[in-house]
Amino acid sequence: FQHWEPIIPLYFGWFLNEADSHMLKLVGMAYLEECLRVPEFAKDFHSFAHASDIRGMLDYYLMPESCKGRMLHCTSKFCSFGDVPGSFEYTSSKNVLEGCGQCYKLCIVGFVMTPRTFGARVKLDAEELKLWDQESESQLSTSPGVSSGVRHLVHSSTHQNLTVINSMRESPWYPHCHATLVSSEELEQSFQPTKGKGSRAHITLGCAEGIAAVTTGYDLLDVIECEETPDIASRCRTFSLPRGWLRDYGKSRWVLYMCREITVSSLFTGYY
Ligand code: A2P
Repeated sequence: FQHWEPIIPLYFGWFLNEADSHMLKLVGMAYLEECLRVPEFAKDFHSFAHASDIRGMLDYYLMPESCKGRMLHCTSKFCSFGDVPGSFEYTSSKNVLEGCGQCYKLCIVGFVMTPRTFGARVKLDAEELKLWDQESESQLSTSPGVSSGVRHLVHSSTHQNLTVINSMRESPWYPHCHATLVSSEELEQSFQPTKGKGSRAHITLGCAEGIAAVTTGYDLLDVIECEETPDIASRCRTFSLPRGWLRDYGKSRWVLYMCREITVSSLFTGYY
């Protein structure tokens, strides 16, 4: 019998492959650009991004310093090298030992946009939920606030982004038409693609300057709380887009619900 101790990583998660990482970033940008064609969204976005044109607005979200140059990922358990309670048990659990190095399909069901973060919402399946161990209760009281730094814009990659978005217009995923305000009959539609265990699952696509990646999960939890408010549909503006619905939850919290999900490939492993 040989005794072994697991090496506990900074976090575990599903890591997108390079192609899907790139594709999801582009699709996210294309959807954001589509949302910016809705005047109500553009006006609100401008109120915190302070960009003078669409180019500036598209450059508002940046990859947080700690995530730069990495593949996109969906965190399943943040361990902080063992400082987080339960990290040892999680790392040495049968599910995690068997799951490491395996491929998983991640299902993207929407996007959340706030003055702090831009995230893709992930719907985990039963197998993936076995690997999920993030706190789900709202931690908004301890989450970082909006820093004054968020108002600074970086324009360096604007031209490159627009060139890529132009080429995206040829893609079948690219949304083309303009938005209309949804009527009361259409509001019967359920706008809660994820709830309960695992509903915090997301992929951080970008954060305002100075905002940490962890904030994306808090913003998603905040939105889920809004979704669970009785009669919320009658109190929010909802816009119908060709491939989904854009809803304004107030306080600059916007959610894009997609009518067709996007599936990406990922590898489950730890980040050390
Ligand atoms: P997310 O999963 O929303 O992207 P850091 O950027 O601090 O190095 O963290 C690495 C990853 O772990 C990030 O992707 C981040 O957020 C996630 N993360 C960071 N801190 C926490 C935390 N306290 N709880 C849960 N996830 C965290």
